[in-house]
Amino acid sequence: MSTLSEPPVVTHGLTKRFRGGQVAVNAIDLEVPAGSVFGFLGPNGSGKTTTIRMLLGLIAPTAGSVELLGESMPKAQLRVLPRVGALVEGPAFYPFWSGQANLLRFDAADRTADPRTRKARAGEALERVGLSNAARKKVRAYSLGMRQRLAIAVALMQRRELLVLDEPTNGLDPQGTREVRHLLRELAADGTTIFTSTHLLAEVEQVCTHAAVMSLGRLVRQSTVADLRAELRPRLVVRTPDLGQAAETLKSLGVTDLKTTAETVEGDAGELPIEKFAAALVAADVRIHGFGLERPSLEEAFVALTGEGFDVAQ
Ligand SMILES: Nc1ncnc2c1ncn2[C@@H]1O[C@H](COP(=O)(O)OP(=O)(O)OP(=O)(O)O)[C@@H](O)[C@H]1O
Ligand SMILES: [Mg+2]
Repeated sequence: MSTLSEPPVVTHGLTKRFRGGQVAVNAIDLEVPAGSVFGFLGPNGSGKTTTIRMLLGLIAPTAGSVELLGESMPKAQLRVLPRVGALVEGPAFYPFWSGQANLLRFDAADRTADPRTRKARAGEALERVGLSNAARKKVRAYSLGMRQRLAIAVALMQRRELLVLDEPTNGLDPQGTREVRHLLRELAADGTTIFTSTHLLAEVEQVCTHAAVMSLGRLVRQSTVADLRAELRPRLVVRTPDLGQAAETLKSLGVTDLKTTAETVEGDAGELPIEKFAAALVAADVRIHGFGLERPSLEEAFVALTGEGFDVAQ
């Protein structure tokens, strides 16, 4: 049986090798803490969707195990999945039915859903995703973003302990993206654990408490977002025309990992007292056009981890 504090998602050595030999997910050990908003971050093709499909029992792992809400998947899926809301590969909507009618249909197919509260729950779910005004419109006339929100509404028809979402802001305009992020934070505040994949770093920075980073099917990092930030050591940056002299002075003071660009000298000052640097540079006749500590962005950290950039737009 599950308890409140046990991690709602745990995998051990989870692996998927597709026919043809390609390893899409390579022995990953995930542990998603209860109550977290867990960002599953990685570039295109890094194995996020494949992992999520295995979590939900939609495809079988080649090796390894999955526990959802304390129970083994896929063995316990009939018991577990009603407690999990999922958005993966968008549900198939009837285009000639309204959004509301589609929601009611999905709910009717759910044996665990109470038919007496169906209409009220559909109304609340549509309200939550901002589709109340379009509830009676045919889905055929929905934009991509509206369909995406309707898909999230399907996952919200019942109260869930865990939401597993594959790129929930995919296809949304900036306004829709903000609304969905807000919604995720609200759901988390209500105590729902959220596991959400994304290739947008901004999403992780704005919404997530924890993050795991995928690269080429491997899990290269897993920690709290706060720890990731704290690890990024600030760099001392001196803007000057006297590059050589500045570099030499900083080196003599113990600054390491020195790099010179066209206008700056930068380095790792560690725990050294930075007020000493300005005085030493002035004493060495270095003209200072700018001086300060710069913290690298999370993006730079992830680029370093995965060797690839992330789309940080939106
Ligand atoms: N059914 C399949 N058969 C063979 N290869 C597959 C299959 N599904 C995915 N792959 C491959 O597995 C790798 C991981 O794909 P996956 O869809 O999990 O990545 P992703 O991180 O979700 O990417 P994206 O950000 O583009 O959604 C890719 O190289 C992909 O081509
Ligand atoms: Mg994907």
